[in-house]
Amino acid sequence: MIFLNWKANGSKELAEQYNEIAIPQHKVVPLVPMPFVSMLDANKFEIGTQDVSLFPKGAYTGEVTAEILAEFGVKYCLVGHSERRHYMHENNDIISKKIQRLLSHQITPILCVGENSLDRANKTHFEVLKKQMEAFVADCIVAYEPMWAIGTGSTPTNHEIDDVINWIKQQYEQSYNDPKVLYGGSVSAKNIATLVKTKADGILVGGVSLKPDEIMEITKHF
Ligand code: PGA
Repeated sequence: MIFLNWKANGSKELAEQYNEIAIPQHKVVPLVPMPFVSMLDANKFEIGTQDVSLFPKGAYTGEVTAEILAEFGVKYCLVGHSERRHYMHENNDIISKKIQRLLSHQITPILCVGENSLDRANKTHFEVLKKQMEAFVADCIVAYEPMWAIGTGSTPTNHEIDDVINWIKQQYEQSYNDPKVLYGGSVSAKNIATLVKTKADGILVGGVSLKPDEIMEITKHF
């Protein structure tokens, strides 16, 4: 599973490039800003987005609801990305409501969790992750994205990634039947050969999503 977080980037041209390159069917899931959803070739890609309204349909000006995402065939949606936790002050209460909205429309939530560099240095990362994982419910995918690895070019060691993935699986597998966990944070064609050796069930790519040729390279490892 390779998920591509375009963030607030992209263009019609990028969508067209993705439609044209020879990525094998259903190997890659672009998570795109809403206007691009209907531009991508639905025969080739399952499509996702990066946010959903916590409200149902109705008088909520400016919101994009789970009903609307479902109508456009959206299959996955990020929730709780660290950029939204930071800039939009999203907390577990908001994140849980969004997860419920998505699940009630058969859209799979991808719950992003991850500690910052201070938590990592102080070895309090599991406490932070535990708190963020309170929003987790069955049928969510988890994306472990340490904040200090997002957009920085540094990645954790495979041992550090596996430590977190093992912990998530051990904590939740009994009640939630083997939760799927992705790794995200500075994934690129340069480090993918190393990262695929972790226990992650897939990857969440940010910046490199804007380079379809590099994504092609990455797909060769899956
Ligand atoms: P990055 O972003 O790959 O640019 O580090 C990952 C993400 O924020 O999902």
